Amino acid sequence: MKVFNLGNTVTKNEFSKKLNLKFPLVVAPMAGGPTSPELVIASSEAGVLGSIGAAYYNRNEIEEFISKVRLQTQKPVAINLFIPHEEPQISESLISRAIKATEKFRQQLNLPQPSLLPPYEENFDEQFDTVLKLKPKVFSFVFGLLKPEYVQAARKEGILLIGTATTLEEALALQESKVDAITLQGFEAGGHRGIFNSTAADSEVSLLNLIDQCRDKIKIPLIAAGGLMNSNDIKAVLSRGAHAVQLGTAFLACKEAATSAPYRKALLATPDRRTKTTRVFSGRFARGIENLFMQEMEKHSDAILPFPAQNKFTRDIRGASLKNGLSGYLSLWAGTGQGELWTGSAGELIQRLFLT
Ligand SMILES: Cc1cc2nc3c(=O)[nH]c(=O)nc-3n(C[C@H](O)[C@H](O)[C@H](O)COP(=O)(O)O)c2cc1C
Repeated sequence: MKVFNLGNTVTKNEFSKKLNLKFPLVVAPMAGGPTSPELVIASSEAGVLGSIGAAYYNRNEIEEFISKVRLQTQKPVAINLFIPHEEPQISESLISRAIKATEKFRQQLNLPQPSLLPPYEENFDEQFDTVLKLKPKVFSFVFGLLKPEYVQAARKEGILLIGTATTLEEALALQESKVDAITLQGFEAGGHRGIFNSTAADSEVSLLNLIDQCRDKIKIPLIAAGGLMNSNDIKAVLSRGAHAVQLGTAFLACKEAATSAPYRKALLATPDRRTKTTRVFSGRFARGIENLFMQEMEKHSDAILPFPAQNKFTRDIRGASLKNGLSGYLSLWAGTGQGELWTGSAGELIQRLFLT
């Protein structure tokens, strides 16, 4: 049997060398709560790439976050954003259906009737300008391709680019667009699916199949993501042809993660977490632990707004759920990986993943 000593293989690893990493690991960007400056600092200080999930932050929030990080570490970090899409046009009748389908949740949570106006997401151009100004070592992104002029601008500032693919076709398009590495996101992954077309069906390619499909056709480093929880999982994908791994769920219960209390409780309650992909929270497929909101809203598929409008539309419900310590209406993003989650420090988890 081929024995993998990850501690040694990394010195030969192109991706790690480019970023001067001790271990070929990216701690996933986790927008919407779990990403904290402390998690990013602990990850990068432990010799892996910490990522700032900045998609829901405006210019000032991104600057504030990174200044906290830079007080504690000078090691490489990534800033991660969502590639924007054309603003969806939403009919009055769809909004009425969405309001009706969510009425009982708002009543239960004492929330007023919602109003929904564009814009539905942060201004990407402003976010990207801020990234250029802050010059992180890496800019990573999901949901599509970065415009050629933005690729050039990042390159000019010496920022490495990592795109996200869920299929071979998306990986080929990213390679063509001249990114430096690609995160291959298998169907097992927690959080939003990186599918370029937000309204398309999910092709549901598993991580191992995706690596097999991309291994020979993609010439740049491949970062495997989805359901990876322990050192055996990591060894399996590295020996299959990935150059590095990206883990999200495994870090969600670490002490530095800003995962909310009810979310943490749901993650830790059952090691055999039952997850599903759903569009009910944001309008885009994402994988999380099945809860009341998911079960109820899945019955109203004709009342789900397109991404990112649904995300804005359900934000008050998630906010009130959090305030009341309830996990039933929260998006409990998690991958298919099973087992107890590590509740110690991120640094200890990284040691366990690579040195045991
Ligand atoms: C809570 C959570 C939030 C996430 N947010 C983002 C994000 O903002 N940007 C991104 O590119 N990926 C995001 N992801 C997906 C991860 O990058 C990665 O694909 C996934 O965590 C890998 O699967 P795993 O959770 O089973 O390790 C998120 C994942 C989780 C669990």
